[in-house]
Amino acid sequence: MRGWRIVGVLMMGAMGTGQAQETRAIKLPPPGTAGGMPLMQALKARHSTREFAGKPLPPQVLADLLWAASGVNRPDTGQRTAPSAHDWREIDVIAVTADGAYRYDPPTHSLIKVAAGDLRPLTGVQDFVAAAPLNLVYVADFDRMGEAGAADKAFYSATDTGFIAQNVYLYCASAGLAVVVRGLVDREALGAALGLGKHQRIILSQSVGYPAATR
Ligand SMILES: Cc1cc2nc3c(=O)[nH]c(=O)nc-3n(C[C@H](O)[C@H](O)[C@H](O)COP(=O)(O)O)c2cc1C
Repeated sequence: MRGWRIVGVLMMGAMGTGQAQETRAIKLPPPGTAGGMPLMQALKARHSTREFAGKPLPPQVLADLLWAASGVNRPDTGQRTAPSAHDWREIDVIAVTADGAYRYDPPTHSLIKVAAGDLRPLTGVQDFVAAAPLNLVYVADFDRMGEAGAADKAFYSATDTGFIAQNVYLYCASAGLAVVVRGLVDREALGAALGLGKHQRIILSQSVGYPAATR
């Protein structure tokens, strides 16, 4: 990511193979968990916005946002800020910026590059998605959902995504950021660009940035 340093090389499980592979990780700053708006005020302020300033999000804001979305809040168990059916943790959060697409890795609080180039226009069918500095893409990995049937996998991956997206809405309300969650996505085109497999499905996307009036 432009202006960011790769600070670590992680051994990660290669997707679908069960084998370790060497992956360069961009370590995010630790989340600032002490501040923020009182919850009731954040709930009062939460709303969708579809106009964004081009200004990129600073690393600390991105780190806080991703941790709020689905970060580890109990290191002893690895469990997250959002609940997850059966504790499957099947939703990957992909951060799509002008510089590329990155999977957020909650256990290491790092970004792992999954695709190069500016894929923001592919994250939705509405014009503003190309202008938002960040589009989050929520991808379910059905292989992590045990022996559940297809209907249960679809239901629980959708509900689990909803919790993550609401965490992002509340963080954005607290931080004064513009945000809208989106179901209108060309899943085939975006899935191909992200290199997704048959066991993965894009559930929703969510655009985030500073409100349009911000310089
Ligand atoms: C599952 C879901 C899918 C949505 N898809 C879109 C979308 O594709 N494009 C969009 O502009 N807004 C989308 N929205 C945002 C809704 O239009 C918005 O939440 C609604 O108008 C209520 O406004 P509020 O969020 O400000 O309360 C979606 C919301 C949800 C919950």
